[in-house]
Amino acid sequence: MSTLTRKPLVSGNWKMHHTHLDAIAFVQKFAFSLTVEDHRRTEVSLHPPFTALRSVQTVLDADRIPVALGAQDVHWEDKGAYTGEISALMLAKLNVTYVIVGHSERRQHFGETDETVSKKVRAVLAAGMIPIVCVGEGEAERDAGATESLVVGQLRAALAGVAPEAVAKVVVAYEPIWAIGTGKAATPDDAQSVAAALRESVAVDHGTGSGNSIRIQYGGSVTADNLGEMLGLPDVDGALVGGASLDAEVFAGLVTGLRG
Ligand code: PGA
Repeated sequence: MSTLTRKPLVSGNWKMHHTHLDAIAFVQKFAFSLTVEDHRRTEVSLHPPFTALRSVQTVLDADRIPVALGAQDVHWEDKGAYTGEISALMLAKLNVTYVIVGHSERRQHFGETDETVSKKVRAVLAAGMIPIVCVGEGEAERDAGATESLVVGQLRAALAGVAPEAVAKVVVAYEPIWAIGTGKAATPDDAQSVAAALRESVAVDHGTGSGNSIRIQYGGSVTADNLGEMLGLPDVDGALVGGASLDAEVFAGLVTGLRG
């Protein structure tokens, strides 16, 4: 598959923001700003908190809005005694397409490990959805020159044992932890070289076809000012956006700013 077939995916990760009522208002306003041409050029996914998924799904369906629904996390079992958890089957029933797995905030605050990330990736794929697998280094690891080995190791663990056809559909989000919510994005050179290393590792482990097909997002202080440049990089195929996805007008501005 050539790079031309990797349609850019811009994903809004709302984290713990917006009630279901805020979410409905957001989607209506956001959708109104985008044209058919914007949707043709860029795929967009919205990742509200679990409590707003059903409301967002209803608005997207009723108004036939071509925006993908996404979740922020998932449990790896289909069902069971796991108080407070949500399964991939439950998400799939809500027409969720993308599920963020292994976000650094979950690794940092909620004990997410490479092992749980790997189980979640399999569960998401088995339920017919697409994981957005987050990898990224902290400041200390970056200063020690360990970025590539760390993120490649995280990705290898996440995708171990996954069939090449499934790997080809996966989305990877390279999110340096020091860039998240800090206003200090990675330089395009750094984003490109890490994305290239990730793609190469997928090609080595899962075949060239998967390496070419897998989409790699950059995440960490993405704004309308740096998104265009990031998406122009040969190995960056989208963005995972936190802060700049919370306001409908601002997030729409990121997408409409990509018009030629
Ligand atoms: P940010 O967050 O855009 O606010 O830096 C990105 C993320 O954590 O996904």
